[in-house]
Amino acid sequence: MARFTIVLILAAHLSCTPLTAADTSITINPASKYGTWEGWGTSLAWWAKKFGTRDDLADIFFTTKSTQLSGKSLPGLGLTIIRYNAGAVSTNTVDGTSIAISSTMKASREMEGFWIDWMSGDPASSSWNWSVDANQRAMMTKAKSRDATKFELFSNSPMWWMLKNKNPAGANDGGNNLQSWNVDNHTAYLATIAEYSQKNWGITFESIEPFNEPAANWWKASTGTQEGCHFEVSSQPEIITSLRNELDSRGLSFTIIAASDENTYDQAVTTYKGLSSVNSKIGRINVHGYQYGNGARDTLYGLASKAGQKLWNSEYGESDSTGEQLVSNLILDFRWLHPTAWIYWQVLDGGGWGVIDADNDAGTVGAANQKYFVLAQFTRHIRPGMTILDGGSDNVVAAYDATNKRLVVVAVNWGNAQYLGFDLSKFSGKPENGNTVRRWQTMIGSGEQYVAKAADTKINGTSFWSYFDNNLIQTFEVDGVTL
Ligand SMILES: *[C@@H]1O[C@H](CO)[C@@H](O)[C@H](O)[C@H]1NC(C)=O
Ligand SMILES: *[C@@H]1O[C@H](CO)[C@@H](O)[C@H](O)[C@H]1NC(C)=O
Ligand SMILES: *[C@@H]1O[C@H](CO)[C@@H](O)[C@H](O)[C@H]1NC(C)=O
Repeated sequence: MARFTIVLILAAHLSCTPLTAADTSITINPASKYGTWEGWGTSLAWWAKKFGTRDDLADIFFTTKSTQLSGKSLPGLGLTIIRYNAGAVSTNTVDGTSIAISSTMKASREMEGFWIDWMSGDPASSSWNWSVDANQRAMMTKAKSRDATKFELFSNSPMWWMLKNKNPAGANDGGNNLQSWNVDNHTAYLATIAEYSQKNWGITFESIEPFNEPAANWWKASTGTQEGCHFEVSSQPEIITSLRNELDSRGLSFTIIAASDENTYDQAVTTYKGLSSVNSKIGRINVHGYQYGNGARDTLYGLASKAGQKLWNSEYGESDSTGEQLVSNLILDFRWLHPTAWIYWQVLDGGGWGVIDADNDAGTVGAANQKYFVLAQFTRHIRPGMTILDGGSDNVVAAYDATNKRLVVVAVNWGNAQYLGFDLSKFSGKPENGNTVRRWQTMIGSGEQYVAKAADTKINGTSFWSYFDNNLIQTFEVDGVTL
């Protein structure tokens, strides 16, 4: 991407004061409404399997209060959406048959599943073990007792015994691995967990996703490091129909089905078109953000809005610990995909992938990456229930809080240092001249964290402006605004 190589040239006049206007003016359009924000989230799975009993981590991710980690105070991210991973692993032997685990599989990624043999579908029978996966469930419970309000159940692979090769990392050839006679068992497994969870854990799953990147060809027994299962697009309608029936038969008709969690925006478009026969059974389109700066986000949004379906970026992650890529791709999502929720994959992970550095196998937790503070600029300010507005530019997002009559603007400057101005003249109720605009800033790549600058920015006429160095991200809160 070109902007990563931009040579920073500081224009001399920018250091002079006073300024009479911004160098670039952005008009926020109150008429552009892209839905009601449902929240920010994380998948649990691997990190919670290891660290699920830690209250400090629950406070950090699922509240907005400040919490100490390794002697440093972190502003909580305030995530409100949980994706809980229904595991595929059990180590018991049934009639001489047991699981096949790839030698390449990471231990931290083997998720214990509840349905341990095919002798009985009755969740009260000994074919089910509801004691497994205690840590992931513990973190889900901690999240619920804090700010989390929305829960999704998702599957990376059906239980091992439903698979052709008994290997939850994938088929030998990367093709379909679910045995044809186990389609209803896979969906019964998920529906049973949802029913059991509601009755026994106090958690109601709003949605169930039976697939994870199903069209991908990399779910293979020989190379797999994690649970995964390929489903041809043509095989997905049968699963969706079966899951709908299993949910309805348990009185869970309110539980929606999300599909198909494809890896890229473009694959999601292709898969979605292949699911037209079951369109009415899809309650939400889930897509992953691994196409980063590319892909037809707008095409997928067009399909979703035409069908009146919600759209989530249900999984995003990469190894850029600075947060620069996260900001860039997240703003592209707001601008072109228009999701109503955005969910990070593993908030604790190594190699720059986590927002906090951690080793899910060794069990060590390090420091917050700068990506943490960059993400906080969004998650702490754009809150559930706000109306998402068009930021007017590929470096700006905006949201409106009707309850507090508050406009939130998050902006980044990828170019030369300059003043960015925000024109609010199109709002019906404009903030008063001279009012204070609260702001927070993080300089990407500098190590600067999340710094509040409470009082130095004022409304001037119907706009305000602020100085942005190259790679500075800032969040603004303007009160006294009506759409
Ligand atoms: C608005 O900007 C003008 C030009 O820079 C300046 O003279 C004036 O004092 C500003 N007004 C307020 C309320 O900050
Ligand atoms: C699994 O599915 C098959 C085919 O639908 C069914 O005959 C069998 O009873 C199921 N197993 C359990 C334990 O429900
Ligand atoms: C059920 O799971 C728990 C936790 O993993 C384990 O300790 C126990 O042995 C399991 N019970 C059976 C019958 O497999």
